[in-house]
Amino acid sequence: MADRDIPAFAVGGSGQTLRIVVLASGNGSNLQALIDAIASKSLPACIVAVCSDKPDCLALQRAQQAGIATWAQRPRDFANREAFDDALFAHIDTLQPALIVCAGYMRVISATAAQRHVGQMINLHPSLLPRHPGLHTHARALEAGDREHGASVHLVTAELDAGPVIAQARVPVHGNDSEDALSHRVRAREHPLLLGVVALFADHRLRTDGNAITFDGRPLDSPLQLDCHDQLQR
Ligand code: GAR
Repeated sequence: MADRDIPAFAVGGSGQTLRIVVLASGNGSNLQALIDAIASKSLPACIVAVCSDKPDCLALQRAQQAGIATWAQRPRDFANREAFDDALFAHIDTLQPALIVCAGYMRVISATAAQRHVGQMINLHPSLLPRHPGLHTHARALEAGDREHGASVHLVTAELDAGPVIAQARVPVHGNDSEDALSHRVRAREHPLLLGVVALFADHRLRTDGNAITFDGRPLDSPLQLDCHDQLQR
């Protein structure tokens, strides 16, 4: 059976398997964390493709090494943002993923494409949203004198980094922190944060209906928090 004939939740060896497409532009350490968790059977999911706007990025090499299909195009080969996203999401839609995971995808997604996939697409962002949307989040947290910083996973909506936040991981900011030190501290928590959220989708404990989110059957009024045992708690 061709990949695209498999429904959003496919029955795999150990029960149901969440079909994921990952979007990435850079190093791909979060993608690798997903690949490793799936390989060790601690995450009941399968990555059906990794897509990128950077054909030479390390994330694509990681995907290829793991035997995952890839799609990559250069934005400059398209007339505009909408044309690039039309091609990207036309490809993604044929794969029928249950979840699209932006893990270090550094390109703004057009409002039309985002709107068409509300409830189906999540983004990992390196700050405690709504603080510091956009770029250079670690430098901005230091500049603002924040005592606490972290990472968020949120639903992608038409407005950049403004969709409902599903879960967060918090880290302290130390007085002598450099941007590098702070970004390392955040990155170490991003991996369990993203894995935790994807696992909750795979277990059907997190569900979405448009931009409404439920967790264990109840509306999610505030973001889940990653505790020191890497568990997400209400
Ligand atoms: C992560 O820190 C992620 O939060 C950030 O890019 C990094 C990717 O790391 N994402 C964004 O800034 C999205 N606006 P990785 O390539 O090693 O997974």
